[in-house]
Amino acid sequence: MRAAFFDSGIGGLSVMHRALSMLPADEFIFFADEDHVPYGVRAPDEVLRLVDEAFRFLMSLDVNAVVVACNTATSVAVREMRRRYPIPIVGMEPAVKLAFDLYGSKKVLVTATPITINGDKIKRLIARLDRAEYVELLALPSLVDFAERQEFDSPAVEEYLRRALAPYDFEQFSSIVLGCTHFNYFKDTLRKILPSDIKFVDGNEGTLKELARRMNITPAAPRGAIDVRYYYSGRLVDDAAELERIGKYLRRLDRMIDIN
Ligand code: DGL
Repeated sequence: MRAAFFDSGIGGLSVMHRALSMLPADEFIFFADEDHVPYGVRAPDEVLRLVDEAFRFLMSLDVNAVVVACNTATSVAVREMRRRYPIPIVGMEPAVKLAFDLYGSKKVLVTATPITINGDKIKRLIARLDRAEYVELLALPSLVDFAERQEFDSPAVEEYLRRALAPYDFEQFSSIVLGCTHFNYFKDTLRKILPSDIKFVDGNEGTLKELARRMNITPAAPRGAIDVRYYYSGRLVDDAAELERIGKYLRRLDRMIDIN
């Protein structure tokens, strides 16, 4: 199986990182649209055009499936991509239902990009759950820029998060949904700021289970190393400095995975 993981930037690595230990695949392609990140503050039409450009490139690599490892691109473009391209396409939505299923009756704080927060898709998702009064939405667009700069725990990051989270009375909340794949890099900094009983929830595992279902494979640790090729907006990443940049993200994700 050759599956592609697509994101506006390096957030999608958090999904592929999980897949590397969860799916018995032969080869992964990771595509970050580094020339156009961030998507979350652009006009939806522009994002649709950028996602389509990325898909056309991925089709030229003969991939068997695409994981849209980006809540923003899913919100704007997944339906149209499924109409245009005849392979399994798995999207990502903020894991609000999972948060209620796991942590019960208190409120859930859903964080994501402005496009996701303001989009119809999340409104429909919340309406289906019939718990609108238990969901608060918060856009954190600067986290995408911080993540792209590999700035994860600086005083500026901490100050940004403290300010954004200050208005919430966390006594009323059970959990925070990381509804943007770039946000997984900040779990240690968030852990410092949030009360210790607030849980983190993301959609990574659910998305990969859906990929496995669509590909007719059983989730399991891979037997050997999975070959991964990285692309930035259609250019193969093959120089040592850029591969080291990616390695640094993956090593950070190794540390984030156990922070719940
Ligand atoms: N990583 C993306 C997401 O999951 C969006 C980041 C951006 O480009 O704004 O929504």
